[in-house]
Amino acid sequence: MDVLVTGGSGHLGQRLLAPLQGAGHSVRQMSRRGAGPGGVRADLATGQGLAAALAGAEVVVHAASDPRGDPWQVDVAGTRRLVQAVDRDRLRHLVYVSIVGVDRIPFSYYRAKFSAEQVLLASGLPVTLLRVTQFHDFVDTLLETARKGPVLPVPMGWRLQPVDVGEVAEHITGLVGAEPAGDVVEFGGPEELTAAEVARAWAAERASGAHVVATPVPGRMSTAVREGAALPSGGGRGRRTYAEHLRG
Ligand SMILES: NC(=O)c1ccc[n+]([C@@H]2O[C@H](COP(=O)([O-])OP(=O)(O)OC[C@H]3O[C@@H](n4cnc5c(N)ncnc54)[C@H](OP(=O)(O)O)[C@@H]3O)[C@@H](O)[C@H]2O)c1
Repeated sequence: MDVLVTGGSGHLGQRLLAPLQGAGHSVRQMSRRGAGPGGVRADLATGQGLAAALAGAEVVVHAASDPRGDPWQVDVAGTRRLVQAVDRDRLRHLVYVSIVGVDRIPFSYYRAKFSAEQVLLASGLPVTLLRVTQFHDFVDTLLETARKGPVLPVPMGWRLQPVDVGEVAEHITGLVGAEPAGDVVEFGGPEELTAAEVARAWAAERASGAHVVATPVPGRMSTAVREGAALPSGGGRGRRTYAEHLRG
């Protein structure tokens, strides 16, 4: 099938190319940069290039997002623009990449992702809303940023289930050829860990000598994550553990 990946230059988007092509699909990767082979340029924030990018697409894997910019403009209004620009006669399946807990964790970016899910559910398109847990590499980046010299502070009691991004890409490839769920499905890593356990494993491999300090974090968002709102309740599981990821 003709598959368009939005966010094709992103961490997940880049990893989708090989498994989708391996499954026999023809793949185009959309982003503002439009980089790489099969790269097409379009901007969800303005709609520029969107109709041309979507022309002919039988499957859309919608993995574009702008968490550090304006997710209400890119993720929510951009998803609305995508819904309007899609070729309804050709489209067989739209897989949206969301995050486990967007419905339960009070955090602005998550609210935007949840709103984008609602846009898709109301669109009448054949959709699957795939909520995924944090990618291993993303966790690495967060820990690197959190580290202050020899001290690595992490939120006390946060419960996580990080996942290998390559396994997410393989899972999405399986969904592409399956019937649309018309609803939310989840995918997460193989094991539940506290933020402190994740940080100790990371420090042992990547920042020897860093001392992990579990710190109480007040607020409703933190409470939700402590209560398990970031953990998948059903759906598929990856096999690669965070420790295996760290060992490379
Ligand atoms: N990272 C995680 O741990 C994680 C966990 C669960 C779910 N997710 C979800 O998985 C998806 C992919 O995440 P990721 O970490 O791979 O993201 P990423 O690396 O930040 O990539 C984001 C992609 O979106 C594109 N983009 C941003 N603004 C755009 C715009 N205005 N128009 C068109 N394209 C735009 C970017 O390309 P340009 O900058 O070139 O436009 C890039 O290709 C996201 O929806 C995210 O919410 C991520």
